[in-house]
Amino acid sequence: MSEEVLQITDLYVSYGGIEAVRGINFNVRAGEIVTLIGANGAGKSSTLRAISGLVKPAGGNVTFEGEDITGKDPTMIVSKGLMMVPEGRRIFPNLTVLENLKIGAYLRNDDLEKDIETVYGYFPRLKERSWQEGGTLSGGEQQMLAVGRALMGKPKLLMMDEPSLGLAPIVVQGIFEIIRRIHEAGTTVLLIEQNANMALHVADRAYVIENGKIAIEGTGRELLENEKVRAAYLGSAGK
Ligand SMILES: Nc1ncnc2c1ncn2[C@@H]1O[C@H](COP(=O)(O)OP(=O)(O)O)[C@@H](O)[C@H]1O
Ligand SMILES: [Mg+2]
Repeated sequence: MSEEVLQITDLYVSYGGIEAVRGINFNVRAGEIVTLIGANGAGKSSTLRAISGLVKPAGGNVTFEGEDITGKDPTMIVSKGLMMVPEGRRIFPNLTVLENLKIGAYLRNDDLEKDIETVYGYFPRLKERSWQEGGTLSGGEQQMLAVGRALMGKPKLLMMDEPSLGLAPIVVQGIFEIIRRIHEAGTTVLLIEQNANMALHVADRAYVIENGKIAIEGTGRELLENEKVRAAYLGSAGK
């Protein structure tokens, strides 16, 4: 279980003159849930976008299963089994639930029925709403659909960018429960969150990003007990 799936080495991302990511190093091993937590603007999404090929890194390397994929085309990266659930869900509002799911499998031409049933097993609400247009779903249902769509690509590594954003606490709990189940079914997970409490409880290991750099790292439990993390990210209750 210690095999490295993803290795990020000295990664830089810039937008014009602005350095959003400034020399980040971290890794994800097979079978882990790893989380990157940090405040708004810390550079979390930029890191994920660089891994997925949606922005070209200004420096550093992304290695997936031993292969250097730095700056490669996003489609090629998806075809390797590295899928992302983007921030803000980005489902297709005018397509049905089922059509959205099928798009997640666009790089495959084998039988999808079994995988659609697997996704519907995780999310019975999506099955009930199979013919409903994505744009008419609630926020939580849209997040389920975004996760389900990524699962249709049979990811080896599933990356999620703030799946809890803007959702009610009860819905967030449901999403995290599904993240646990997906992980238990054998998928390695890289989770980006502002909801540090939830993320650290589910994660094997975690990294705190501040101003485009890794400020703190450790196991989920270590970070839950870390005083700086408690003060800055877990609120005064800090449970
Ligand atoms: N497309 C962009 N163009 C210019 N600046 C950007 C762009 N995307 C993000 N940034 C800037 O990069 C920094 C990191 O943003 P981001 O990676 O989205 O952080 P996070 O996901 O942690 O909230 C912020 O200062 C943000 O304003
Ligand atoms: Mg973000």
